[in-house]
Amino acid sequence: MSISEGVVQQIKDTINIVDLIEEYLPIKKVGKNYRTNCPFHQDDTPSFYVSPELNIFHCFGCGKSGDIFTFIMEYDKTSFSEALRILANKAGIEIGGFEHKNKILYLIHDFACEFYHKNLLKSPKVLEYLKKRGNTEDTIGKFKLGFAPSGSEFLKEAKKEFKIDDLINSGLVKKTVSGLKDRFFLRLMFPLFSISGQVIGFGGRRLSKGGAKYLNSPDTPIHKKGKNLYSLWHTKEEIRKNESAILVEGYFDFLSLYQEGVKNTAACLGTSLTNEQAELLSRYADEVIIFFDKDAAGRAATLRSLGMLLNLGVTVKIGNTGSRKDPDEIILKGGVEEFKNFLSNASDFIIYTLDRIKEDYDLSSPIGLSKGIERVSIVLSQIRDPLKKELYKEIVSRKLMIREDLLNIEKSTKTSVIANKTIDISDREKIELGLFYAITQKVEEREVVFSIISDEDISNPYLKKAFRLLKKGEEIEIDDIIQSLSKNQIDYLLRESQQPEISALSSALRLKNYLLDNLIDRKRRELQKVEENGGDESMLLKEIKSLIEERVRVSKEVIGEI
Ligand code: CTP
Ligand code: MN
Repeated sequence: MSISEGVVQQIKDTINIVDLIEEYLPIKKVGKNYRTNCPFHQDDTPSFYVSPELNIFHCFGCGKSGDIFTFIMEYDKTSFSEALRILANKAGIEIGGFEHKNKILYLIHDFACEFYHKNLLKSPKVLEYLKKRGNTEDTIGKFKLGFAPSGSEFLKEAKKEFKIDDLINSGLVKKTVSGLKDRFFLRLMFPLFSISGQVIGFGGRRLSKGGAKYLNSPDTPIHKKGKNLYSLWHTKEEIRKNESAILVEGYFDFLSLYQEGVKNTAACLGTSLTNEQAELLSRYADEVIIFFDKDAAGRAATLRSLGMLLNLGVTVKIGNTGSRKDPDEIILKGGVEEFKNFLSNASDFIIYTLDRIKEDYDLSSPIGLSKGIERVSIVLSQIRDPLKKELYKEIVSRKLMIREDLLNIEKSTKTSVIANKTIDISDREKIELGLFYAITQKVEEREVVFSIISDEDISNPYLKKAFRLLKKGEEIEIDDIIQSLSKNQIDYLLRESQQPEISALSSALRLKNYLLDNLIDRKRRELQKVEENGGDESMLLKEIKSLIEERVRVSKEVIGEI
């Protein structure tokens, strides 16, 4: 097969490396980049980074690095041409001769989506229902809402295009004692979109009495219940941008918020957020604000879900819906302003938990108090960060007026991750980081680096220490220090790792020259002052001269040695 470079580039332009890798690995956002445990080596600390900006992945542990093609080749153990087929298929780019094994199921769902949607547009009563609930034409079009007619109209149309077996596999048609039938009839249809935007199933709401309020697609090869979040495809960018997500229960909650411009939202479809959904959300959001229904089911689900999210290291807040039953009702009756008000007053998860136990137990009695302590201890033990855990423990003991040791929390085994602060890094630090990266990669250049740079030249205390150890001959890997760096420092290292030529020598030279330039500048400023105020310039002039000579000498010496 001969494939033009144009096609390769076209595929690269179409597929975002973050979207691709997250189909395979649970990646989590840290600053501009994403990280996870490396799939290519035994990795206890997340050393595997994905940069959407550079469109690359890079593991600081094993050094594997590359683009979307390399990833598929390494991960799926494929040849380049196989990787090309897989990615072309994902990108929807024709390269001929290849069909995805589930392609037919996607086609059936596209067909069904169009069928139900067109049918809705010619069903005035259902349109009227949606209008009453506040849904606009835009929303109906954007989320491709539909209406499943009575009888088995879908089957009648679809069997003209598709094989019966494929239709049964799609879950949209089912075998019954009285023959084949549509699964959905007389229901308002919500297409479910995959994370990459394909229709993979439906939820159907009944519009008249009788039957379950919601009926969902069964599990199929392209859809598993509890794996996806409703319309995350439409909102993931917004969530990423905000680093914060609003989590609601239902379709209507989601659509009402979206329509009013609150777009960093996802719905878990029912009251049981699954671990998979929690993990999915944590890839995009550092913070989640749970806005479940006011009823008992919503309340119980809130406590369960907040634990799951805390466990993933997500910051959790809980939205209060006041006297309203759910976010949909807030929007419909109180408008988006009321919702935003609730949003800004969302409670910290521990305050929420304490409020709940106050409602549920009589904390003035020993039995009630002990039950309350048990409940809040479970929440506390799910906090991932040890420091946060300690701080929250203190708050709880103060609020409940109990001794801290009464809070029965298992010791966290997970280590705290410091790499979560976003701080700007200085030029000097960049040079130091670049040097450090280079000397861990280029063992053979270490000696000459040590002859140019001393530990005194390094300002970052952490790197200084690591540098000393390296000098003593200890083996320090870049992976050992990555966990202690900030988001921006890591982002810088990712860029360095993609340089075609990495030279420890030129990095050392850069640092030395930077230091000398700074020193020369300082001396020149001193000289200026002496000139203005009068005084002996000769010492300073001499110093400056010798610094300039040293700068030239260092450059020459090193260049001479290459
Ligand atoms: N759900 C479901 N199956 C059910 C009940 C509920 O899948 N038998 C999911 C639906 O996704 C629904 C969500 O749980 O949107 C929340 O349920 P509920 O609060 O009962 O429905 P609402 O979304 O509030 O719908 P409506 O406003 O039409 O009553
Ligand atoms: Mn609801």
